[in-house]
Amino acid sequence: MAEPKKLFIKTYGCQMNVYDSERMAEALGASGYVQTAAPEEADMILLNTCHIREKAAEKVYSELGRLKPLKAAKPGLKIGVAGCVAQAEGEEILRRQPLVDLVVGPQSYHRLPDLEARAGQGQRAVETEFPAEDKFDHLPARPKPRRGPTAFLTVQEGCDKFCAFCVVPYTRGAEVSRPVARVLSEARDLVERGVREITLLGQNVNAYHGAGPEGGDWSLARLIRELAEVDGLERIRFTTSHPNDMSDDLIEAHGTCEKLMPYLHLPVQSGSDRILKAMNRSHTAEQYLRVIERLRAARPDILLSGDFIVGFPGEEEADFQATMDLVRAVEYGQAYSFKYSPRPGTPAAERAGVSVEVMDDRLQRLQTLLNQQQRARQEAMVGRNVRVLFEKQGRAPGQLVGKSEYLHAVHVIAPDSALGESRAVRIAASAPNSLAGELLAG
Ligand code: 5AD
Ligand code: SF4
Repeated sequence: MAEPKKLFIKTYGCQMNVYDSERMAEALGASGYVQTAAPEEADMILLNTCHIREKAAEKVYSELGRLKPLKAAKPGLKIGVAGCVAQAEGEEILRRQPLVDLVVGPQSYHRLPDLEARAGQGQRAVETEFPAEDKFDHLPARPKPRRGPTAFLTVQEGCDKFCAFCVVPYTRGAEVSRPVARVLSEARDLVERGVREITLLGQNVNAYHGAGPEGGDWSLARLIRELAEVDGLERIRFTTSHPNDMSDDLIEAHGTCEKLMPYLHLPVQSGSDRILKAMNRSHTAEQYLRVIERLRAARPDILLSGDFIVGFPGEEEADFQATMDLVRAVEYGQAYSFKYSPRPGTPAAERAGVSVEVMDDRLQRLQTLLNQQQRARQEAMVGRNVRVLFEKQGRAPGQLVGKSEYLHAVHVIAPDSALGESRAVRIAASAPNSLAGELLAG
C-alpha cells in the first residue's frame, strides 16, 4: 500500500477557522492525506489565514517566505493559502509568491481535492467564488474515529451587518444558515464519536435561521432545544452573537435549557452611542445593557464576555469614558479588546484615525479594568462546586484539565478514566488564568 501523504495545517484567527481546518483535513483525507504536526515532513502545507486586523496579509507573505527552504528541499511539496486572506487577496498571492500552488477562499473548501490534484499536475489555481451550494454538503462526511470531548460545529456563516470597521461581510460573504437536518446529523455523529460539548459557530450565530425539516425556518433557540434532546450531548454553547439578534426565545433558553451553558460572548465594541452610530452597530449602549439585564434575569449566574475596540475614528476621551462606564455596569468575566485597525475596503478605513499613543493609553486603561473584573469573577469561584468536563492531561503528574460550565480552565488531580467525562469539582484556588479544584464524589 502506498505510504500516506502528509498534510500540515497552520490555523490562524477564529474558532471557525479551527473548524474549517478540521473539515479541510477530512476533505484531503479522501485524497490520501493524513495530518502531521511537523511541517518538514509534510507533502502539503496549508495556511488557514485570518484577515480581521492589520498586517494579516503581510504576516502570511512572511510565513510563506519561511517555507522556501522546505520547498527547495522537497520540490513536490504543495503549498496552499486558505481562509480570509486567500479570499481578500486571491490572484495577488500567486503573483507575489511563486511557491504557492493554490489559493482557496472559505466558501470553496469542497473544491480542495480537485485543486490539490491540479497542483499535482503543475497547475496553480485560485478559487474564491461564493458558490450557491453549501460547501459543507459537498465535503465528505466526517470519518468515525473517536475524538476529544469538545467540538465546534459551524451552523451559520457570513454577515449582513456591515459594521464600519469589519472585513467579515467581504471575506465570508452574506449570511447563510445551514439546514437543521444537516446540523442535527453532524451533532449526532460527533456525539457517537465521544463528543460531550458542542459549540455552535457563526459570525452572527444568533441570527441563525436554518431551514427546518418540515419547511419554515428555525431560530437558534429552537435548534438548541432540539440539540438538547440528543442523548449523550451534555453541553451546548454558541458564539459569536450580535446584541440585536438576542431574541426573547434565546434569552429564555438560557433560563430553561439545562444543557445550554451559562456563558455568553456578546460583543458591544464601544459604550458611546456616538461611536456605536459611527460604527454602524444599530444599537445603543442602553439597548445593550437592557439585553444583559434580561439575560441575567433568566440566568443570574451567566458569565459574560465581550469584544471592544478602542481608538475608532472620531473617538474622544468622553466616548472612551462611556466604554469604561459600560464595562463597570456589566462586569465581564472575560473580554477581548483591540486597538482599531483600518481595513482596506471598509467604510471606516477612509476616516481620520486616533493617534497611536492615545490608542495605546486607552487600551491599557481598558485592559486593566477588564483584567480586574476577570480576576474578581474567577476568585469568586473559590469554594463553589462546579462540573468540569475533562479534556486532557495537565502538566503535573496525575492532573487533568477541563472546563467548568463558565468556561474557566480547571486543574484537578483526577484519574485518567475521567478524561472525556464531566465530574463534580470543588474549586480550591484561583491562579491568573485558571482555577484549581478537588474532585468530589459523583
Ligand atoms: N480593528 C480592530 N478590531 C477589530 N475587530 C474586528 N475588526 C476590527 C478592526 N478593524 C474586532 C471586533 C470583533 C472581533 C472579532 O475583532 O471587536 O468583535
Ligand atoms: Fe463584523 Fe459587525 Fe458582522 Fe461582527 S456583526 S462580523 S463585527 S460586520
